[in-house]
Amino acid sequence: MAPRKIIIDTDPGQDDAVAILLALASPEEIEVLGITCVAGNVPLALTTRNARIVCELAGRPDIKVFAGSDRPLKRDLITAEHVHGKTGLDGPVLSDPIMPLQEKHAVDFIIETLRSEPKGSVTLVPIGPLTNIATAFEQAPDVVGNVAEIVLMGGAYFQVGNITPAAEFNIHVDPEAAARVFGSGVPLVVMPLDVTHKALVTRARNDAFRAIKNRVGEAVAEMTDFFERFDREKYGSEGAPLHDPCTTAYLIRPELFSGRHINVEIETTSDLTLGMTVADWWRVTDRAPNALFIGDIDADGFFSLLTERLARL
Ligand code: BDR
Ligand code: CA
Repeated sequence: MAPRKIIIDTDPGQDDAVAILLALASPEEIEVLGITCVAGNVPLALTTRNARIVCELAGRPDIKVFAGSDRPLKRDLITAEHVHGKTGLDGPVLSDPIMPLQEKHAVDFIIETLRSEPKGSVTLVPIGPLTNIATAFEQAPDVVGNVAEIVLMGGAYFQVGNITPAAEFNIHVDPEAAARVFGSGVPLVVMPLDVTHKALVTRARNDAFRAIKNRVGEAVAEMTDFFERFDREKYGSEGAPLHDPCTTAYLIRPELFSGRHINVEIETTSDLTLGMTVADWWRVTDRAPNALFIGDIDADGFFSLLTERLARL
């Protein structure tokens, strides 16, 4: 089967970095048409820098990286340096990128790609706030029906929230954008905290990254070492959740994941629960399903896949 064409929309972020590395290590299954950056974990100037660092780390300076929205649609930007460090990619020592940033705006790239590629052949993989995707849909409603699928990291039901007691970071940062995407009619696969909190980088899994003994394995081990300290302190868990790579792993091995086709709506008005993903997991409403909301993962299978693929880089 031909590889799936994807655009990764991202705010790297150590876990974004691993998601990108996994995609670039898997050319049989995934063709990365471009990487579009958004402000999120850190401001846009840093996410565009970090995305290029990751491409160079993977030995892929040919990948096109675009700068997109520098702030949410209607709100001030909230960042997460307390999790990811000052650069967003704290942990390993990585030099500034040499590869250029594309001149085109990320939103224009998304729109043009969806118009030029055959209808239904491009999958969007957003792993940051949904500002770029919502803006593309707003500016060019004709492209919405061309998207094959959106496989995103965001939201929570059983885990409720991480940036507030009621909301997950990516959705909370730009709830209006999320509402636009969840209401777009495009088939959605959603990786909420419910599943990513089962993908924990335990000591043994981190050691396995390090034991790959290539530059990538070492860098990934140092990245996960870095953000682990935050999650250990916060959750007392045996390791940090590796959120964003659940999306790219799903594109390679969907059978590692299971969930329910349900309705998910985004709270955009309440101060207390802003950005909450109101997921009808128990199907108590008659609202039409709009997402495959993932709840479970074969975590050992996921980490074996990751380790095997990172060893290829
Ligand atoms: C999400 O927020 C970011 O901090 C991570 O990169 C991930 O995309 C998890 O809530
Ligand atoms: Ca992210």
